[in-house]
Amino acid sequence: MTTTRTTTRTSTQTFRRFRRLRRTESLRNLVRETRLSQQQFVYPLFVTHGQGVKREIASLPGQYQLSTDQLGREAEELLSLGIGAVILFGLPAEKDDAGSEAYAPDGIVQQAVRTLKREAPALTVITDVCLCEYTSHGHCGIVVDGEIDNDQSLALLARTAVSQAEAGADVVAPSDMMDGRVAAIRSALDDAGFTQTPIMAYSAKHASAFYGPFREAAGSAPAFGDRRSYQMDPANGREALREIEADIEEGTDIVMVKPALPYLDVIARARERFDLPIAAYNVSGEYLMVKAAAQSGFLDERHATLEVLTGIARAGADIIITYHAKEAARWLTSKEVERG
Ligand code: PBG
Repeated sequence: MTTTRTTTRTSTQTFRRFRRLRRTESLRNLVRETRLSQQQFVYPLFVTHGQGVKREIASLPGQYQLSTDQLGREAEELLSLGIGAVILFGLPAEKDDAGSEAYAPDGIVQQAVRTLKREAPALTVITDVCLCEYTSHGHCGIVVDGEIDNDQSLALLARTAVSQAEAGADVVAPSDMMDGRVAAIRSALDDAGFTQTPIMAYSAKHASAFYGPFREAAGSAPAFGDRRSYQMDPANGREALREIEADIEEGTDIVMVKPALPYLDVIARARERFDLPIAAYNVSGEYLMVKAAAQSGFLDERHATLEVLTGIARAGADIIITYHAKEAARWLTSKEVERG
């Protein structure tokens, strides 16, 4: 008898009962640390020339290349799901060495921005600032003697950002990884009168295999070599923090870590160290992994997707750029309804 009492007392003293707060859905809701919301999502859109084009992207099931006349309907759907922002990527009519359509006043992205701001003014339109979709060689800067020339690329990137702001872009997002581009873009925007246009810099963008499906979608694979002379080595986390710090010094308003899943440590360290809003790009290959696994029938797509997005938010991302945005928004809303 004495033995029994001692055992009971000892057991309550030596372990904690975490399960007390996991007993019911309502208790779990009360103590949840990370609350995912569709208001955090940014949805990527691929825009192409032509009329009536809605072409499914083979490498990204459920994602489409759209012509500008399709954008009004798309924006309406996003807003009705509670998704407030898109990031635009363009498929130009022609490519050349200098990526001219990136900064052409009637370039495909500039046209798309004007359409969206006219048809859905409430939607925040972010534009990706880069040259790789527009250059014949597929690199993110100007090629001089077989190398990507940093300083010559800056002027064109700044010009691209200004032309996007002129078209009405709400935020510009440089993804090229040239050194000094945030400073160059900030001063060009300010000189052109766009002092109120924020920059969301792809600050810690790693040379990743997970961009593969995007390059198929945007037709932006490099024609020679790879991007390792400008995008970061996946092995480097401390350098990622230095890149972020430099972009903050140069005047970025939002910093980004990309991709998300293999770099959750970078997101978490950036969250501890910096007070700016942090974005994470849940990239094309990360999306495809979930889709392909779900298609196999062995992965619960809804739970896996929401777990991925929650993990990115838990690591410290405020903003999540994701191809899952629409389905996740639907699932988040239906969950609320289910729970009453
Ligand atoms: C352009 C750019 C890329 C992505 C976003 N902007 C491709 C790349 O750097 O090769 C990747 C997005 C994705 O994979 O979803 N520089």
